Amino acid sequence: MSIEIVIARLLHVVLGVFWAGTMIFTALFLVPAMAEAGPDGAKVMAGIQRRRFMDVMPVVALVTIVSGLWLFWRISGGFDPAWSRSRMGMAYGIGAVLAFVAFGIGVGIMRPTMMRIGSIVGQAAQATDSAQRDTLMAPVPALRRRSASAGRAVALLLALATALMGIARYL
Ligand code: HEM
Repeated sequence: MSIEIVIARLLHVVLGVFWAGTMIFTALFLVPAMAEAGPDGAKVMAGIQRRRFMDVMPVVALVTIVSGLWLFWRISGGFDPAWSRSRMGMAYGIGAVLAFVAFGIGVGIMRPTMMRIGSIVGQAAQATDSAQRDTLMAPVPALRRRSASAGRAVALLLALATALMGIARYL
């Protein structure tokens, strides 16, 4: 095994597991616990955003995808269609497509929605009277619902992608 494969597999597996595990934890535990916590939940979200969660996760996902594409290219002999139609090839291929869709939903829906919630909550915290704060906060429940359902879809897709990656070579 060459050093490039060892490095690509290390990056792919470690970052892929981090990406999928974080999104599953977020959907199953963090978001429901924050919803129960009410205004304190918003403080936790602000702390997570300050630690650049919204910038770190897309980079983690991108490195997983790029290393996965490179590994795919290597083991499929340059995207050979016959290999891609084998059971193993299909399992890696379907897993990869699920991960691409999860990435699209994460970057296209979840990230902008969570950033918008963060900016509204920030503005509301500066508001001088409660009527102004209520007007600012009005769209937040719908945005939270949107972000939570996108998060559940991402978690499910990544769980399936990880399962397929894990069993592909034994099919
Ligand atoms: C949620 C995201 C992902 C996770 C958690 C993940 C996880 C894994 C794991 C654990 C393995 C090792 C399997 C084994 O050795 O039996 C693996 C292998 C592999 N993954 Fe992924 N993966 C993800 C996304 C992707 C994507 C987007 C691609 C893109 C094409 C991809 C392509 C591959 C390939 C080709 C291998 C086989 C590498 C080899 O045997 O050298 N994966 N993946």
